Amino acid sequence: MTETPAPVAVRLRGITKTFGSNTVVRPLDLDIRDGEFFSILGPSGCGKTTLMRMITGFESPTDGSVELAGRDVSKVPTRDRDLNMLFQSYALFPHLSVYENVAFELRVRRTPKAELDTRVREALELVRLADFGDRKPNELSGGQRQRVALARAVVGRPAVVLLDEPLGALDQKLRKEMQFELKRMQREVGITFIYVTHDQEEALTMSDRIAVMSEGRVLQVASPIDIYDAPASRFVAGFIGSCNLIPARLEAGRAVTSGAGAIPADTAEAATRGLADGAEVVVAVRPERVTLHADPAAAPAGAVRGVISARVFLGDEWTVHVDAQGLTLTVQVPSGETGAALAALADGAEVAVSWTTAAGRILPAVDQTSGDAAGATATVTAGPTSEGAAA
Ligand SMILES: Nc1ncnc2c1ncn2[C@@H]1O[C@H](COP(=O)(O)OP(=O)(O)OP(=O)(O)O)[C@@H](O)[C@H]1O
Ligand SMILES: [Mg+2]
Repeated sequence: MTETPAPVAVRLRGITKTFGSNTVVRPLDLDIRDGEFFSILGPSGCGKTTLMRMITGFESPTDGSVELAGRDVSKVPTRDRDLNMLFQSYALFPHLSVYENVAFELRVRRTPKAELDTRVREALELVRLADFGDRKPNELSGGQRQRVALARAVVGRPAVVLLDEPLGALDQKLRKEMQFELKRMQREVGITFIYVTHDQEEALTMSDRIAVMSEGRVLQVASPIDIYDAPASRFVAGFIGSCNLIPARLEAGRAVTSGAGAIPADTAEAATRGLADGAEVVVAVRPERVTLHADPAAAPAGAVRGVISARVFLGDEWTVHVDAQGLTLTVQVPSGETGAALAALADGAEVAVSWTTAAGRILPAVDQTSGDAAGATATVTAGPTSEGAAA
């Protein structure tokens, strides 16, 4: 399937931000396409808000350029950039009705009355608050207030809306609902959304593409599926979802660990990415791709033997820790047949685990970084680890 890619809505070239001696965004290139739901995902303090503020013009880059729809806006003030931003902590005007809150910007721009009314009604319709125009913000629930803020952000139909952790203040259930709503809204209006979050699940659910950031760098830009299944670095593998990261070395075309010997890993794929014999690597295996064999004698050849060190029942699945020759592997077991067999076992029971070669993704042991913070994102812990999401 060949699709013509949509035109570029936002293009960043060599964008950099330094506060004093602290470089918080490192020279960074990024293309965000028209109509895309594009997420920027990364831990607290990695530079997400700073990057957003440079796109909006609230912050001027130390170096580099910002283009919107093919036009260099590096020197253009925010009000003349065709965008709107919804902040991490937004505020509605408490004394104005919902309608007037949404209409505010259009009034400032002296939009003709009839047009203003149509646009405000459309925006309220979009966020499903058509009947709430007369209410004051304090007569709304948290989720409804959030919707008003969204209506306000899109009412002027800017080309780009930037949203900085807009759901942060909401409880878990409301957050989930709003994720669907936001996605639906974005589809309906076709506006490019740039969405900042440190919640990996949120990014995976809503985005067309995700940029994973760490310490001022974009480490990978890809679709949610590729970010999850084909992480390009140890940091990305460990940050998105939970992942077993098994230290190993490439020897004679195999991945060999110090304790468990050769383990299944996709060496052919690693070779295409320049990882050759002698390289220190980690083999990244998702817990749901590991099969647990309650009877080690019946396990396939190449399975790794171990003992159960911990089990947690989660309803639809079990999370099981298996200690195997110096490795602690996390295994996700669906509560079906295997789950039932597992329930009958005790901690300390001998089991085996296996996974397919394709499930073992080989990554450099130390993330490649350039500049002065080399190695800072890859804390190589002594011994094997299972790094969960750092959210
Ligand atoms: N005006 C400023 N002056 C000095 N340092 C700043 C300024 N703004 C941000 N920083 C620093 O830049 C780094 C990145 O901050 P930023 O707000 O972009 O992070 P973030 O990824 O949005 O984090 P969070 O998820 O917590 O919102 C932080 O170390 C922060 O302390
Ligand atoms: Mg922030």
